[in-house]
Amino acid sequence: MEGPARQLITVEDLRKSFGHAEALRGISFSVTPSSLVVIIGPSGCGKSTLLRCLNGLELFDSGRVHIADVTLERHDGTVPRDLRHRLRLLREEVGMVFQSFNLFPHMTVLANAAKAPMVVKGMGRDDAETRARAVLAKVGLSDRLDYYPSQLSGGQQQRAAIARALTMAPKVMLYDEPTSSLDPTLVHEVLQIMRQLHDEGMTQVVVTHEMRFARDAADRILFMHEGLLVEEGPPAEVFGAPRDPRTREFLKSFL
Ligand SMILES: Nc1ncnc2c1ncn2[C@@H]1O[C@H](COP(=O)(O)OP(=O)(O)OP(=O)(O)O)[C@@H](O)[C@H]1O
Ligand SMILES: [Mg+2]
Repeated sequence: MEGPARQLITVEDLRKSFGHAEALRGISFSVTPSSLVVIIGPSGCGKSTLLRCLNGLELFDSGRVHIADVTLERHDGTVPRDLRHRLRLLREEVGMVFQSFNLFPHMTVLANAAKAPMVVKGMGRDDAETRARAVLAKVGLSDRLDYYPSQLSGGQQQRAAIARALTMAPKVMLYDEPTSSLDPTLVHEVLQIMRQLHDEGMTQVVVTHEMRFARDAADRILFMHEGLLVEEGPPAEVFGAPRDPRTREFLKSFL
């Protein structure tokens, strides 16, 4: 037997500044395969920056990210020579969902979902559409394949965006406030997809202000404050008995 279960994400001493502003001031944590991790924290604490560093949209200043089969590392400002290759692999293995859906407006739901495997993996249209139909069925959009994004509700658009990420058969899904721009009545249908993926064993990292979801569905909670990871633990501990005064202060505003 091997040692302890391999982590699917490992982040070591991640630092990122914008000019003089330090957005990430040395973040370290790991994510166990098949777990659902929720990141919470006040506006501006660095949650989006962290996710963007995890999926290679942002180049960090120093530290190390290992995610799925990809390692991104930076010390003394050096960038790995095969960075492009690594980022390409990362695009295949890490799915990302944003607050604003980011669907292609001129393409149908089916075409949106089929696009990524065709572009990134060079898959033929028939195969890509077969796969896209399967994931669209999973998110409950089988009856909307030929619709354009503008013809869908916000919840449907976000489910289509999740399906689009899933057609790549990623090993990890990252979400940045996936329900924040939704009408409150539509929030649950998107949260439900993440719960369902959790049941199926997908590894997921979610930035959200949906505290009920965080408490009920997450395996672990990470609380960030001013670029630092201040507290981390199972939801029962972080919500039930927060250790750090900054966590207590933040959670007060949600009671
Ligand atoms: N491209 C950028 N250029 C300059 N500063 C930036 C940039 N992106 C983020 N920042 C700064 O980095 C800090 C962290 O921002 P980030 O967007 O990661 O916060 P957040 O926790 O996601 O906040 P919110 O909850 O409002 O989405 C903020 O002070 C922000 O102003
Ligand atoms: Mg953000």
